[in-house]
Amino acid sequence: MNSSDVIEQLVDTIISENPRQKSFLEESLKTIPSDEKNMLKEYIQNKLDEGRGIAELAESYNKIVNDTLGEQIYFRKNKKYRFSRFDEVADAVYFNDEYMNFYMLGLALTQFLWSNHRQLFEFFTEILPKERKGSYLEVGPGHGLHFTYAISHSKFEHFLAVDLSDTSIRLTKEAVSSLGTDKEVHVKKQNFLEMEVDQGFDFLVMGEVLEHVEEPLEFLKKLKSLSNPGAKVFITTCCNAPAVDHIYLFNTIGEVRSLCESAGFEVEREFYAPHPGTSLEDSEKRQLPINLAMVLK
Ligand SMILES: C[S@@+](CC[C@H](N)C(=O)[O-])C[C@H]1O[C@@H](n2cnc3c(N)ncnc32)[C@H](O)[C@@H]1O
Repeated sequence: MNSSDVIEQLVDTIISENPRQKSFLEESLKTIPSDEKNMLKEYIQNKLDEGRGIAELAESYNKIVNDTLGEQIYFRKNKKYRFSRFDEVADAVYFNDEYMNFYMLGLALTQFLWSNHRQLFEFFTEILPKERKGSYLEVGPGHGLHFTYAISHSKFEHFLAVDLSDTSIRLTKEAVSSLGTDKEVHVKKQNFLEMEVDQGFDFLVMGEVLEHVEEPLEFLKKLKSLSNPGAKVFITTCCNAPAVDHIYLFNTIGEVRSLCESAGFEVEREFYAPHPGTSLEDSEKRQLPINLAMVLK
């Protein structure tokens, strides 16, 4: 398949199954920067080379859109996420290979196709210390897009990713192997809170994990305990943004900030994308979704 038209084929297939995505996706493709468009093409092509089809990718995207819509309806009515315990979602999501495969492929596509996710990724590419050497840790790589970006765009020498889902581990390993890197890279199946390592890290990344766990403060404290002197930590999370496996609800950015400070961090930089067409204050007051990223030290 010609790589220059794989995006078009994907979008056409998504729209044929879900026509309500048409204007949203057409608008999104008008504004995607060319380097990210190239990354999206490369991502789709890698998945096709691994033997997946455009139909599977389109189904993955539509599943995440439809499932998120269902949770948004629940959230608007009840002002809380449907579940609050890890064991209520773990078997249906993280340990369900079929579902998790759809979910992570779909999430990876939203990283390019949804402007809120795109903006968080752009912030990540901006703050990744590209000239720094040492060790890089990523918690919950999922689809592996941040992890592989860091491997190919930084001078860190040692890379470790930990995730408790077999599916995420497989997808991350596939993403690493499509890079063909000769750097030292380890991808380990592990519950982060149970991880025992005798080394510290110089850059630590935990994207979209805090809202998936019952005890986000423990995750932040663990990141702090694994930080070398001078290390930076990059996190992303969201407020008022329901999804099938979001169990910890943040209503305001201030709540995330306070949690980071309680774990002993100072917030060095932050980026947030309120609900389109609203201010941050408005989104918080009306419990609309906000995506956010923080650099901690
Ligand atoms: C929503 S995905 C995030 C993917 C990617 N980091 C991103 O920013 O889009 C959350 C990931 O965190 C993993 N995860 C959840 N709890 C974890 C834990 N206790 N230890 C390690 N990984 C965990 C899940 O298996 C999943 O792969």
